[in-house]
Amino acid sequence: MSIRKQDWIFIALVVAVIIIFYAISGEEKTKRVPLDANHQASYDIFKKTQSKMEADKGCPACHFVGPGGVPFPAKHPVKPKDGPMRCLFCHKLKLAGV
Ligand code: HEC
Ligand code: HEC
Repeated sequence: MSIRKQDWIFIALVVAVIIIFYAISGEEKTKRVPLDANHQASYDIFKKTQSKMEADKGCPACHFVGPGGVPFPAKHPVKPKDGPMRCLFCHKLKLAGV
């Protein structure tokens, strides 16, 4: 049995779909918020209010650009001066389902 040209196109299509599904289902690689003394208060705010936006408000107290702030990586996708930061939109808490 020989494989026709149309069959190869179909096989290529199936392989492409599998690769795309694999790519978008991949484990998120952005670092999670550490569950340590520095971040305990943020976890507590989230647990109390169930609101990530409330918890977000606490991050700039330590994470800011300038002396004394926990520095952001040079390639950080957003800069703190761009306005209110939704840190937890990208950096997930170490909790199930959030
Ligand atoms: C009390 C100060 C403080 C607050 C508030 C705080 N952080 Fe941090 N954060 C730190 C310090 C210090 C580090 C670096 C040392 C460490 O990993 O704990 C850090 C590190 C991190 C890291 C890097 C972790 C890693 O694996 O390298 C992320 C992500 C982070 N913080 C996110 C957040 C987010 C999101 C918030 C708000 C919900 C927040 N932090 C609030 C002090 C704070
Ligand atoms: C648009 C998505 C996004 C938002 C919003 C965001 N970050 Fe990040 N952040 C990233 C990515 C991507 C990296 C680099 C990959 C990594 O190490 O997680 C990163 C890296 C970091 C690191 C360094 C982690 C390390 O390597 O030690 C810290 C600390 C951090 N972010 C804190 C914050 C804080 C605090 C906020 C809110 C003020 C914030 N980020 C908002 C995507 C985001």
